[in-house]
Amino acid sequence: MSKFLLLFIFILATTQAITFDLTRHCACEELNESECHRLYQVCKWTTTCETILSIASFCSSLQESSCTKLESYYQCVWENKACVEKTYTCDDFKTNPECTHELDCWWNKSGKCASFTSCVDYDESNCNRSGCEYISGACTQITCSSFQSDQDCKYMDSQHSFCRWTDDNKCQPLSTTATCTDLSSYKFKCEDNFACKYESNQCSFRTCAEIIGKYNNCRTLPISGTEKILCSWDGTTCADAEDASELTESNCFEWSAYNYRWTSDNKCEACDTLVSFGNSTSAAIIPVFFAIAFIT
Ligand SMILES: *[C@@H]1O[C@H](CO)[C@@H](O)[C@H](O)[C@H]1NC(C)=O
Ligand SMILES: *[C@@H]1O[C@H](CO)[C@@H](O)[C@H](O)[C@H]1NC(C)=O
Ligand SMILES: *[C@@H]1O[C@H](CO)[C@@H](O)[C@H](O)[C@H]1NC(C)=O
Ligand SMILES: *[C@@H]1O[C@H](CO)[C@@H](O)[C@H](O)[C@H]1NC(C)=O
Repeated sequence: MSKFLLLFIFILATTQAITFDLTRHCACEELNESECHRLYQVCKWTTTCETILSIASFCSSLQESSCTKLESYYQCVWENKACVEKTYTCDDFKTNPECTHELDCWWNKSGKCASFTSCVDYDESNCNRSGCEYISGACTQITCSSFQSDQDCKYMDSQHSFCRWTDDNKCQPLSTTATCTDLSSYKFKCEDNFACKYESNQCSFRTCAEIIGKYNNCRTLPISGTEKILCSWDGTTCADAEDASELTESNCFEWSAYNYRWTSDNKCEACDTLVSFGNSTSAAIIPVFFAIAFIT
């Protein structure tokens, strides 16, 4: 009985696909110096790779030359020979070029840098926030449903969605993080993406085995909005990878979405601990790591 159980567990283990979680990364403590620098927004290198636990500790890890508004993502300032935490507000920026969109600050018609209010408060040159477009002489809030043709249905209607033309000829918002399973009303967009397939009026994820003759796409495939699977190419067909042995020193860390790392005995191996990107204090800058918006 336990023999069968062991065999069963063995089969489960060996047929398990290799999946990577885009929302998590190897614990900083497991990384070497160059990997640590790749995740510099969540890890910092001292003599080992350490987790950045607070904005204050992120700032203190920066040298004077990096302790700038831009390089610290508007979180730190150099004061009294130290890089310390600073909370910037739009009011801190007195000129149009300084007025940073990173903090959703916009230069309004009164010549002030302030938090975004409404599209109508901006002139033509400052009307480029997602959701606003300069149309017929005014900075206008976009409403997808107001567009009657595929050609006009092309703007963003918010910071998180595009207007896209549906199969039943309507202009509707599509999330910037839309993935294959969100594209059932968008046949063309579904078919246009190598990772998706359109069948029986449904858009779904392709499996590795469904990647045909496209060597470059037989690498990793999304299986949900937050996970991808490793594929393996044998020269003629693409299949689910059984292990990570085809990953190399130069691609192990990135292709695995920072879930695996190159070990000292030259193998690409899963990290012992994965940590959520969301746990980082510098959450505002995290989207840099995500490649989820692969549809639009
Ligand atoms: C511009 O921003 C300032 C400061 O917040 C505010 O007092 C003013 O009403 C704004 N002007 C417009 C046109 O929104
Ligand atoms: C908006 O326009 C300014 C000036 O043309 C440009 O520097 C900036 O990158 C643009 N911002 C966005 C979000 O497109
Ligand atoms: C760290 O690991 C990477 C592979 O992920 C390797 O290319 C690099 O040489 C290593 N760096 C150091 C400083 O050991
Ligand atoms: C995320 O943070 C919470 C609370 O700070 C902590 O309990 C949890 O263990 C952290 N998760 C990871 C994966 O580090």
